Amino acid sequence: MNFTSMAAEQVMQDLIDCLLAEHFFGPEPLPLLAAGQWRQAHPEAPALEGGEAYERIWDWCCDAQEQRFISIALRPGITQQWEKVPGSPVLARQEQRWSALGPVDFMKRVFTGMGPRFGDNDKGLTLFLEVLHISVWQTALSLEHRVDDQNLMAQDGATFLRTMEQWASLRDRPYHPLAKAKQGLLQAEYQQYQAEFAQPVALNWVAVRKDLLQGGEGVTDLAQVYPARYLLPEALQERLAAELRERGIDASHVALPVHPWQFEHVLPAQLGAAFARGDCQRLDFSEATVFATSSLRSMTPCFPSADYLKLPMAIYSLGASRYLPAVKMINGGLSEALLHQVRRLDPVLEQTLHLCDESKWWAFMPPEATLFDEAPRHLSAMVRGYPQALLDDPDCRLLPMAALGTPLPGSNRHFFDEWMAYRQLPVTADSVLTLFGELCQRFFDVNLRMFRLGMLGEVHGQNAVLVWKAGQAQGLLLRDHDSLRIFVPWLTRNGMADPQYRIKKGHANTLYHQRPEDLLFWLQTLAIQVNVRAIIDTLAQVYALPATRLWGSLREVLEGLLQSIEFDAEARAMIQHQLFEAPRWPQKLLLTPMIERAGGPGSMPFGKGEVVNPFQRLQA
Ligand SMILES: Nc1ncnc2c1ncn2[C@@H]1O[C@H](COP(=O)(O)OP(=O)(O)O)[C@@H](O)[C@H]1O
Ligand SMILES: [Mg+2]
Repeated sequence: MNFTSMAAEQVMQDLIDCLLAEHFFGPEPLPLLAAGQWRQAHPEAPALEGGEAYERIWDWCCDAQEQRFISIALRPGITQQWEKVPGSPVLARQEQRWSALGPVDFMKRVFTGMGPRFGDNDKGLTLFLEVLHISVWQTALSLEHRVDDQNLMAQDGATFLRTMEQWASLRDRPYHPLAKAKQGLLQAEYQQYQAEFAQPVALNWVAVRKDLLQGGEGVTDLAQVYPARYLLPEALQERLAAELRERGIDASHVALPVHPWQFEHVLPAQLGAAFARGDCQRLDFSEATVFATSSLRSMTPCFPSADYLKLPMAIYSLGASRYLPAVKMINGGLSEALLHQVRRLDPVLEQTLHLCDESKWWAFMPPEATLFDEAPRHLSAMVRGYPQALLDDPDCRLLPMAALGTPLPGSNRHFFDEWMAYRQLPVTADSVLTLFGELCQRFFDVNLRMFRLGMLGEVHGQNAVLVWKAGQAQGLLLRDHDSLRIFVPWLTRNGMADPQYRIKKGHANTLYHQRPEDLLFWLQTLAIQVNVRAIIDTLAQVYALPATRLWGSLREVLEGLLQSIEFDAEARAMIQHQLFEAPRWPQKLLLTPMIERAGGPGSMPFGKGEVVNPFQRLQA
């Protein structure tokens, strides 16, 4: 199979599963046929069914007038009622003419079949098809590329982390059919800028008038705390400073790093006037080369250092433009303060919860602009300080959890290979279960302790970094503090205060929650349905063990923590109910909200829906 068909198959799987989980085809149970029944009706059909007794065929009339049908083989899932049988085709039929569909053709038929539902939202539908197409060809390029997974444990801390970012980037956000699409990147740019291709990126720099800059809490004095000081080795700092002096702007301006793609495509359009006035000036200096991480616009340092870099980059990823507004960083600062407080309130968290320092940032903010304006969001920079001690410790390895939930194409390698070798465990299903149990124990211990005190981080696999130390899952390192979710009554009863997040009036926010159940939503969705589910499925595939055993082990860990952490009786009963007893779980809707948004502004569009409770599916 070539890479394009592999990519199409991967995207198709996520697409159909996502549509089914979101009840896209309606709330009613789907009309399903036993495979034998379907075959009897269509003896001439190409191969579709795999022969397992639990399999069903969904035969959907997508166009009654023209008598067009689509047939898909489904099987019961753990996190959703039905999922597409992996590897099976999606068949279209009109009279006796059969063909296999790719994701874009399939979706076109879906939209035609469901036309009235989308009324006048042609823009949303067209955009969706376009991003779906991008998702397939960009996935194909990534599948074709081989991440270098040799000698992992011989790499120093920073190199190891960079390799794991490349690995994590191969899949991006799991189970999202459009995740790999970075809308705005041409093929050559995709291969130049996506993390997995491991290409050096030469940063550009722009001088910005000092009085037009807003700074984070950590930027006490612009004369002392400026980006180059953290991002460049001394020799390069001097060369950049020399250019500012030559231009006669060393007293008036500060140099901000800019992603070269942003420099070329976005600054002229968004901030042309500021450049024309000389408030912002392009610099020639471009000697610092960095590497992308799994978030694409967050970059490694260009020399041995714990200071990483986050930049705005106006490409669309997951339906949102990746700009970097001051307001997000202000809220991130408020969250970071809470995260430090929570560490002091729980001695276990003090040992196991690690934090990046995201207090140093600079954002272009002309006097007439407000925090909610678009243009200034495209010119800013944040220095993300990783804990130096963790990077330097030879026994320590940092890895985004997404690297554990991403299979390497064409290889059966996994970090658990290294972990088992280090612990001298035989490569068996039991060893995999042991390590997976330890991983879950640490990850959920940190999350549930934070939850007890009224907060939850945005712990999908890209933000949540495992701190592995001498063969143990020692802790969790959080980055990306702008989306800490809170329940204020629990914060205040534990001596913390409402951080007073800046939120645009009249706009929905996802930071404050009305009920503890609503805060738990983030644990169920991002932590379990996205992050840990991807790890379960990857381990099941790589080490050939049933996913149900891993889910069972997760359940045991959660039950144990629910007893051992000092929840009050009410909270414990609530969690017990939501996780194990409730027949349905909440779920993040991705596709419908994205179509409705039709490309408008804002962060990743999502809605709330419901799916089956995975732990109850285990018993079924
Ligand atoms: N496992 C994952 N889950 C969610 N997003 C991911 C994942 N892997 C990669 N990503 C990408 O990371 C980006 C989110 O990171 P972002 O918040 O923009 O930067 P950072 O995390 O460096 O602050 C998204 O564009 C998304 O495509
Ligand atoms: Mg992130």
